[in-house]
Amino acid sequence: MSDQQLSLPGLVSESFGSPGEWVWAADESEEEFVASEFVHATVMKDLVVEALAPKNGSVYIDATLGGGGHAEAILEAAPGAMIVAFDRDSAAIQASSERLVAYRDQVIFIQSPFGNLLEELRARSIKSVDGLCADLGVSSPQIDDAARGMSFRREGPLDMRMDANDGETALELIGRLSDEELADIIFRYGDERRSRRIARSIKRALDADELATTLDLRRAVVRAVGPARVGGVDPATRTFQALRIAVNDEIGQLRSLLEQLPDALAPGATAAIISFHSTEDRLVKQAFASRTMWQPRWKKPRVASDEEVSGNPRARSAKLRAAARLARDEG
Ligand SMILES: C[S@@+](CC[C@H](N)C(=O)[O-])C[C@H]1O[C@@H](n2cnc3c(N)ncnc32)[C@H](O)[C@@H]1O
Repeated sequence: MSDQQLSLPGLVSESFGSPGEWVWAADESEEEFVASEFVHATVMKDLVVEALAPKNGSVYIDATLGGGGHAEAILEAAPGAMIVAFDRDSAAIQASSERLVAYRDQVIFIQSPFGNLLEELRARSIKSVDGLCADLGVSSPQIDDAARGMSFRREGPLDMRMDANDGETALELIGRLSDEELADIIFRYGDERRSRRIARSIKRALDADELATTLDLRRAVVRAVGPARVGGVDPATRTFQALRIAVNDEIGQLRSLLEQLPDALAPGATAAIISFHSTEDRLVKQAFASRTMWQPRWKKPRVASDEEVSGNPRARSAKLRAAARLARDEG
């Protein structure tokens, strides 16, 4: 995983509580986090709309509602479409429901992980849908909110959960894992070569009762590897990313979504998935490689234009893959 691939999704809320002002931005792995510079909208919005080709009367899933940018773009392209919108974060659901108020009768908001896709659809008697988009990762309000503990720039509890009411916090996870298991996570999800040293230092801090906050965690990483920035990236970036991915079971969630997709989509329906690092993109690529199940929309993943990247550095590591569900007897 390159340092560029470490740039993760982000939304900046310059004025929190006013969803209309949410704009996408680079996350904290960027050199500097300056909200006003990042006024670009949702990543690859036009390409997602092009892939889904939304039609009035059809039903689309936005698996990662966030600030509602993709959902809104779908509804602008097809004002008579329906959206089934998932987000595990109640704050994202709240903000988007305000942003999409003009379409309130056309959006079903579901506060649940997208790994529960079929269960949630069946609970609402939805047999299949006409398209799905997913824009993986976290949003900047999640990073910006110190209480969520995702940022090494802001002091907060070591939590890191996207849904603050679900599952283990980062601190609980660190307490449960052995040194080796913790090192494996830091290596696998952060692509961090110095994972063993870092894991030992983190566990030592925990044993000494010196690990309660995000800044404590950053200090433990710096104690292990020094304060130098590598490739312009803070030494704690990879460890924070790895723990966040583990706490939220992000890879397990994606696997589960990909497994359920064929049963959720009607024949001919397209799935469009934006990923931000190589592990995610590899899983999406593998899933869409089944020629009996999927017709890829493009040969190669689409990336953001230079223009989009210059307005929104976060977009530079984004990869969009899309594929249409074949009818069961095709292929
Ligand atoms: C990158 S943001 C999406 C932004 C959105 N596409 C937009 O244009 O405003 C990702 C969102 O997905 C949510 N999310 C991440 N993993 C999820 C999962 N497994 N289930 C449901 N929501 C998830 C996060 O809480 C976050 O709000």
